[in-house]
Amino acid sequence: MDLNEYIEQKHNEHLADLYEFLRIPSISAQADHKQDVERAAQWVAERLRRAGLEDVAIIPTKMHPLVYGESLHAPGKPTALFYGHYDVQPPEPLELWSSPAFEPTVRDGNLYGRGTADDKGQVHIHLRALDALKHTAGTLPINLKVIIEGEEEVGSENLWDYVNENKAKLKADLLVVSDTSMLAPGVPSITYGLRGLNYYQVDITGPGQDLHSGVFGGAVPNPLTILTEVFAKLHDKNFRVAVPGFYNDVAVVSRAERKALNHLPFKEKEFRKTVGAPALCGEKGYTVVEQLWIRPTLELNGIWGGYTGEGAKTVIPSIAHAKFSTRLVPNQDPAKISKLVERHIRKLLPKQVKCDFQVLSTGKPWVAPYTHPYFEIAHKALETGFGKRAVFIREGGSIPFVTQMHDTFKVPCLLMGFGLPDENAHAPDEHILLENYFGGIKAIAHFYKGLAEA
Ligand code: BES
Ligand code: MN
Ligand code: MN
Repeated sequence: MDLNEYIEQKHNEHLADLYEFLRIPSISAQADHKQDVERAAQWVAERLRRAGLEDVAIIPTKMHPLVYGESLHAPGKPTALFYGHYDVQPPEPLELWSSPAFEPTVRDGNLYGRGTADDKGQVHIHLRALDALKHTAGTLPINLKVIIEGEEEVGSENLWDYVNENKAKLKADLLVVSDTSMLAPGVPSITYGLRGLNYYQVDITGPGQDLHSGVFGGAVPNPLTILTEVFAKLHDKNFRVAVPGFYNDVAVVSRAERKALNHLPFKEKEFRKTVGAPALCGEKGYTVVEQLWIRPTLELNGIWGGYTGEGAKTVIPSIAHAKFSTRLVPNQDPAKISKLVERHIRKLLPKQVKCDFQVLSTGKPWVAPYTHPYFEIAHKALETGFGKRAVFIREGGSIPFVTQMHDTFKVPCLLMGFGLPDENAHAPDEHILLENYFGGIKAIAHFYKGLAEA
């Protein structure tokens, strides 16, 4: 049977199988879900076996297992390494979901549920593409190695030990990832750049214990006030990060590249609607796509301390906390940036408080040329799936593995994503456009086939 015919005929089977996967709450950040993460790993391993992969193994790490499989029966053909993640973000706040996070539900051509877009739905696209190739051709036409990890959403910390210890085993001619987005519906996209991510926590301690704000207020330092004053100073009036040296190593993006990015069919009005804020703001002198894709940022992710419960409690808290992050672009060095940020924050803090500064994770930015012939194969495949030629985009999100692999193996990385920017990844009502899910299966199946025929 023809590949497209097979894929179309199996629509219901694809979905039923995807629902099973989505129902497993594989939340890597929550210890209570350790068993579910394990179960998801087993589920993935079983699907790899069914798709004909060999040496399928669930490899334990210090935290969550990764799943490996391979099929190496195409001598002379390229070897691709496919990477994805089966873990998901916590679903909270639960009350904001229109249907339960782990009960996949179709509404208006979209499939809702945690992990539909990031990244179980996209991993499943590959599982179904492999299944379709196996059932129509008998064997996989290329050599394939697969890593599907269980802790991407918490930083991929332990994956790196595995990669370092298995460099020879993982060697491939190209990396294939579907964990990004399309620019817009109907616009297949290949991502050639991602920002890096440093994540930090600061804990500011003033008084030795919580104090009555009437008895003590007025004569003692309030760590919450001091912390918010510091964060208010981290941007200037043009929304530039006010950390000395922060922009020193930022690579100049050529006029030609900026022009190409600014000519993409990116709809600022749509973007504003997705954001839902009364107005946008960003670094002066740059367009929205530039602010999102080629400029670094500093973002406050959470700030807490003192009393936030019901009613009033007159208290001066002993301690205040903040979590924040910096998104990095080429050629910023994560270690250098974290030192600059720490030094600046310590300098801004008055002597009345103590500061504990932690760098929770670091990750380098990534950008790479897209001139290798594999990209033309990707173009043809995406055209088969979506009826339109793909565009090349950069994105603001981070995938630590891509950067690390590119540094280590220096091979072309093909990021063909099938999510959309407004699909609520990491938020309530995450969903994927079913049209993109089905188009993705076709595109990926044809991509692997195309690699064999080139
Ligand atoms: N799939 C995303 C990254 C992404 C999203 C790339 C959209 C491009 C477009 C990934 O699962 C993710 O959420 N990464 C985290 C970083 C990670 C270290 C927790 C991120 O970007 O915040
Ligand atoms: Mn992801
Ligand atoms: Mn994610």
